[in-house]
Amino acid sequence: MSGNNGDILIELNNVEVTFDPFILVVKGVSLRVPRGGIVALLGANGAGKSTILKSISGVIRLERGWVTRGWITLDGRRIENMLPEDIAKLGITYVHEGRKVFEELTVEEDLLSGLYGRRTKNPYDALEMVYNFFPRLRERRRVRSGLLSGGEQQMLVIGRALISRPKVLLLDEPSLGLSPKIVSELFKSVKEINEQEEISILLAEQNVKKALEIADYGYVIENGRVVMDGPSDKLINNPDVQNYYLGIGETGRISYREVKSYKRRKRWIS
Ligand SMILES: Nc1ncnc2c1ncn2[C@@H]1O[C@H](COP(=O)(O)OP(=O)(O)O)[C@@H](O)[C@H]1O
Ligand SMILES: [Mg+2]
Repeated sequence: MSGNNGDILIELNNVEVTFDPFILVVKGVSLRVPRGGIVALLGANGAGKSTILKSISGVIRLERGWVTRGWITLDGRRIENMLPEDIAKLGITYVHEGRKVFEELTVEEDLLSGLYGRRTKNPYDALEMVYNFFPRLRERRRVRSGLLSGGEQQMLVIGRALISRPKVLLLDEPSLGLSPKIVSELFKSVKEINEQEEISILLAEQNVKKALEIADYGYVIENGRVVMDGPSDKLINNPDVQNYYLGIGETGRISYREVKSYKRRKRWIS
């Protein structure tokens, strides 16, 4: 994470997000996505992960939300509070949680819709690139999107984002509701996309273990704040992360719900 500012693609500095009327959700978050990196945003339901991604993509604007303090930069350029379509043109693509596909379109039509409004020299090269990362989508290309499995739909929404060749993909809980095997496959493809297309990735996840397997660095979010951050190998071995997010306690496996009421250890509050 060190180095000169040219290595930093996205930076949030002390960002506060407020929704109309005066609902403060993100409370002074600072984070960095290095060029070419995979960064994980970790935290339980309601922590503020989606709102952070929506503040970067401008999607908060659609929900009457604003960055009311701090700033966000892409390649050193301020982007906070810009409209989502303008931010998309700069190369940031947000993949919403809940994998919304166009049910009536075929997989291929749905993928090509990701090029809407973009100037693309050869859409079929772009399609080929997506199919190479997700061979399953090639097999299913004539099938209507609504008929795909959950895992295939997640590949589709990532593929639709990928097809316009963004600089950054913001992935919102891609693992939600998928089996561990499918998640592993999906995250393997995400890693390949990152390495081969040099697309930087900010990945919001409750599945801390899987996310840290592919991320270089992680931030733990609680109640709209960063409570801990570090390289993935440090986080995965951290006793607090193991207790609160991986359910590994001294007495064996315990659930997040059970430990949630435990008094936080002092070093946890950074
Ligand atoms: N548009 C909104 N207006 C008001 N409150 C919101 C809005 N979006 C999210 N929130 C609140 O902000 C908190 C964080 O939500 P969210 O960012 O979706 O968390 P996560 O993605 O980590 O589950 C929640 O308490 C949620 O109810
Ligand atoms: Mg969310």
